[in-house]
Amino acid sequence: MEIKVEKGRPEKFPCELLLLFSFESPEQLEGPIRDVDLEWRGFISTLIKQGDFKGELFECRLFYTQEALPAKRVLLTGLGKKGEFDLERWRGAASKAGQYLRNSGMKQFIFPIKKLDGHPEEDLTESFVTGLLLGIYQFNEFKTLERDKIKEIGEGILLAKNDEDIQSITQGLKTGKVISEAVYMARDLVNGPSNQVTPTVLAEKARQIATNHGMEIQVFEVSQAEAMGMGAFTAVAKGSQEPGKFIVLEYNKGKGWGPIALVGKGITFDSGGISIKPSENMERMKDDMSGAAAVLATMQAAARLGFPFHLVGIMPATENLPSGKAYKPGDILKTLSGQTVEVISTDAEGRLILSDALTYSLRYQPKAIIDLATLTGACVVALGDYVIGLLGNDESLLKRIEAASSKTGEKVWRLPLWDEYFDYLKSDVADFRNVGTRAAGAIIGGIFLSKFVEKIPWVHLDMAGPASIEKERPYIPRGGTGAGVRLLIQLLRDWNR
Ligand code: BES
Ligand code: ZN
Ligand code: ZN
Repeated sequence: MEIKVEKGRPEKFPCELLLLFSFESPEQLEGPIRDVDLEWRGFISTLIKQGDFKGELFECRLFYTQEALPAKRVLLTGLGKKGEFDLERWRGAASKAGQYLRNSGMKQFIFPIKKLDGHPEEDLTESFVTGLLLGIYQFNEFKTLERDKIKEIGEGILLAKNDEDIQSITQGLKTGKVISEAVYMARDLVNGPSNQVTPTVLAEKARQIATNHGMEIQVFEVSQAEAMGMGAFTAVAKGSQEPGKFIVLEYNKGKGWGPIALVGKGITFDSGGISIKPSENMERMKDDMSGAAAVLATMQAAARLGFPFHLVGIMPATENLPSGKAYKPGDILKTLSGQTVEVISTDAEGRLILSDALTYSLRYQPKAIIDLATLTGACVVALGDYVIGLLGNDESLLKRIEAASSKTGEKVWRLPLWDEYFDYLKSDVADFRNVGTRAAGAIIGGIFLSKFVEKIPWVHLDMAGPASIEKERPYIPRGGTGAGVRLLIQLLRDWNR
């Protein structure tokens, strides 16, 4: 869909469909909806008075104007109670309106943007565009039948009242688009099956981003990683015929702050390896590279938004498969840090590849390390599928993540990293084991990672739950969600404020 900004008045603008929003049982109409109501001889206020449109959250009603307005149709969408309004609801409402008009086959809409409930035009536009685009996302790449039945909106026009509004709406549109396109990219990679989205493809994607945005890129083959001493990453990679790649993407805006290391788990398929997983739901394990997808997407957005930062994206990418060459329970691995790990389960592979990636990140002397990983089923048990587990060793970095989370609506919840939990990882034969108990599994995963970040401020985001979802949410369809992308972008946007 193309979205553009034009100056004009909604009650005078000819179009297929005019989009309007209303709070629940408003005392009086304000802004664009009021202007349209006046021109329409009180049609909307009558609807509301008679209870035909209540304005309940996400309620959608379509009306034909019968030439009473230049717009052929009006779609009214409810925003719920005024006191409960925030930008998260706004993104949801934009999405619901977008889904409604797409599903009814509309190709074009206009939407007048004016300050709402104290939110300025730029913020409203950014959240509107983000909610709308994320809500109408569809993954149709591999559908070949009845492609003509796929519905898409062709064009949206954001109407500005005056020149000043044109400026702020244009800015909000740009930011919203960059963010949504980053999330789209992450979702496409997560939804893409493991026979398409291989480590090689992730590396190619990283190369593309590097070329498009003037970034540095290094892709290490498994043999090179082995020579460098990455005994944990290479142990996992060797079980598969599909070549593993250790990807390092660097965005350096010179004078900027940093570097900040973003480390993403890139297991393109997790069968569990020799400690093989039950086959039920195993297909979901194509999403085990969601961390790497989020890092790639964030790097792209950082460049497009021109962040004044030095960012290093590190993505160890491989399959985790059983084979004659696969690593085995009982194996002892020497990690890049020099520390040794006794493998208890080959299914706890994420922490292994991440251990080498975290150690590698230390070469850049990062001011902060953030890792994203679909690390543990235990985190899903603890927090469900709409909350990211948040663990870390630095209070101010944890607080930054929480602040970004409250703005983007990507929920995070803290889990502790107390020393006592390390007892579970003690090994008789190596420095530690890769698995503790089933109990406190998400925390133990975090404790394991903490052994590879030395004293650098670090947070670990366990997104095993939110990476892909079964039940849609207001602006997140089923499947790969792009979890972590908006959170990281917001974190970086606010870093210097
Ligand atoms: N990729 C999985 C974690 C996962 C599970 C993600 C469910 C999404 C949904 C990870 O590699 C894994 O298998 N973890 C094990 C760790 C255990 C062996 C300590 C797990 O959670 O069972
Ligand atoms: Zn696993
Ligand atoms: Zn995994």
